[in-house]
Amino acid sequence: MTPEERISELREQLHQHNYNYYVLNNPTISDFEFDSLLRELQQLEEANPHLYDANSPTQRVGSDITKEFRQVAHKYPMLSLGNTYSKSEVAEFYERVRRALNEDFEICCELKFDGTSISLTYVDGKLVQAVTRGDGEKGDDVTANVRTIRTIPLVLKGSGYPQEFEIRGEVLMPWNVFERLNTERASQGETLFANPRNAASGTLKLQDSSVVAQRCLDAYLYYLLGEELPADGHYDNLQAAASWGFKVADTMCRCKTLEEIFEYIDRMDTLRKTLPVATDGIVLKVDSLRQQRHLGYTAKSPRWAIAYKFQAERAVTRLNEVTYQVGRTGVVTPVANLDPVQLSGTIVKRASLHNADIIEKLDLHIGDFVYVEKGGEIIPKITGVDLDSRLLVGDKVQFVKNCPECGTPLIRVEGEAAHYCPNTTNCPPQLKGKIEHFVSREAMNIDSLGPETIEMLFALGLLKDVADLYTIDPSDLMFLPRMGVKSAENIVSGIASSLAVPFERVLFALGIRFVGVTVAKRLARAFHNIDALMSATMEQLTEIDEIGERIATAVLQFFAIESNRNLVERLRTAGVKFVIDDEVLQGRTQLLKGQSIVISGVFSLHSRDEYKDMIEKNGGKNVGSVSKSTSFILAGENMGPSKLEKAQKLGVRLVDENEFLNMLNK
Ligand code: IVH
Repeated sequence: MTPEERISELREQLHQHNYNYYVLNNPTISDFEFDSLLRELQQLEEANPHLYDANSPTQRVGSDITKEFRQVAHKYPMLSLGNTYSKSEVAEFYERVRRALNEDFEICCELKFDGTSISLTYVDGKLVQAVTRGDGEKGDDVTANVRTIRTIPLVLKGSGYPQEFEIRGEVLMPWNVFERLNTERASQGETLFANPRNAASGTLKLQDSSVVAQRCLDAYLYYLLGEELPADGHYDNLQAAASWGFKVADTMCRCKTLEEIFEYIDRMDTLRKTLPVATDGIVLKVDSLRQQRHLGYTAKSPRWAIAYKFQAERAVTRLNEVTYQVGRTGVVTPVANLDPVQLSGTIVKRASLHNADIIEKLDLHIGDFVYVEKGGEIIPKITGVDLDSRLLVGDKVQFVKNCPECGTPLIRVEGEAAHYCPNTTNCPPQLKGKIEHFVSREAMNIDSLGPETIEMLFALGLLKDVADLYTIDPSDLMFLPRMGVKSAENIVSGIASSLAVPFERVLFALGIRFVGVTVAKRLARAFHNIDALMSATMEQLTEIDEIGERIATAVLQFFAIESNRNLVERLRTAGVKFVIDDEVLQGRTQLLKGQSIVISGVFSLHSRDEYKDMIEKNGGKNVGSVSKSTSFILAGENMGPSKLEKAQKLGVRLVDENEFLNMLNK
């Protein structure tokens, strides 16, 4: 077989496996086998660059090429839908359609997905373009980003698709991905996405498609457009699209009567709560395309469709007080303190008010009865005030002018919604927050020092900043209430071991705004030591991959503050690492320290010698035969039967290539 033939065979197989895994949820090979095929394809493509194809399964990982999005005019405008929250308006829609058509008709009912809409163009069965809705007339060409979405086919399966067509749908961020992303952002002091919809559209607009690829977006398709569609029915067309590899909701349903439609609505209102993605209503569409044409369009939306939106669950309760929380980066968040109220299965006592603009827009007064909703958002929010029940007007809520914790006048950065307390060096919650961040697992990993101990040491003036950790007197610890000898010893030894933490994690531990784990790694690898970083210029910083002006400014600002530079000096004197380890530069680590590893079988991602080398470079020992002191077996395909038997007898674990590479963070 020529490389060309093998490449096309692999591409075809991988497209099918992708579809089985992501669309059908029914993989027929192991992840390991999938990765081996993908790796083989990657190697063949690298060796044969003239066979490059933007729709190859290898392109799903994205690239970090930065470019402005090109604006593209939609061939068919992307219209919106008429909205309603009431069943009686659904009945009116049904009646209007019945009268206008004056013949039998069916309504296709579907879930309304709450993400960001996308229009995909396919030519000869291949994805050629993906454009956002934009203003409905023209949108952004986000093809590179969309190629990373595993549920969107790059090359179609089956047959019968038009030579050229468009298909539209919704790009979504599943709830679990959304929650993970926000947790990560919170730990880096970044603003959170309010809901999965914003997260999905924000992600689609990222310049770096490799970051998009990591965000695990999903997509449901719900509208096929073109000159030669397979059927006259919308439902049938989407079933055909499903057979070409698109993800089409299996909850679609054709209804004849209004009763059937209402039943569908009620059924979906329950079902949607169990779905992995956000939905906010039902879309009703006249099924026949011929009848759709007959009904036509108004200026903004089709007359043949309507959206029924679910009422977000809402409660009314009294606003007692607005308090303010100061985070470790100084952002001040207003919090509404409410009379406890039951909402979607939990008791709500507090709700985030996000920022000053929102308070102003709501015209909030203390004592107001407010509406609290948990819609697409996880944290409940206040959506309005019940003005009819405002009897005695309390004080209007004014955003605090000074930091509630240290009294410093707050500042508001031009173009940003948040207020900050600029007193980064003396504001107690910022200082405590910084210490908690410094000792956290991903930073210096001093897990023996919990928030309560930090609070006590801070209150006693024994711990004012992170450098104080290294001069703390063990006897001071002993005098703390509820502190035993053992716990004090653990704290002392935890602090001592933190001196071995590599530079990149120290950099993360410093708590520079926007410098999360990954950014810290990039900075460490680019500058090698703190002195080079401290004297870096805007240009040098922004030259680094994925470091934009926002992060660069935060770094420059951090080191412009004298007390931060002093802090670095005090930490340096204490022995904290401010230089990258040669090992890190050369790919050496101690991740496999003390482990005896047996290699057996045939590998597809790296050669056996490469694995040997990796074991040694990462502090492990490569041994020839399995014994009870073997830590694990790095097992490839066709592992020798005697080794396998011995491993089973001794209970030695088998680790495949991928798991092994994961261990080494590769
Ligand atoms: S059909 C001309 N079907 O809702 C009709 N839209 O306000 C085109 N949406 O922009 C849209 N789920 O982003 C349709 N099953 C569904 C939908 C859906 C979500 C979104 C879409 C559209 C908006 C309409």
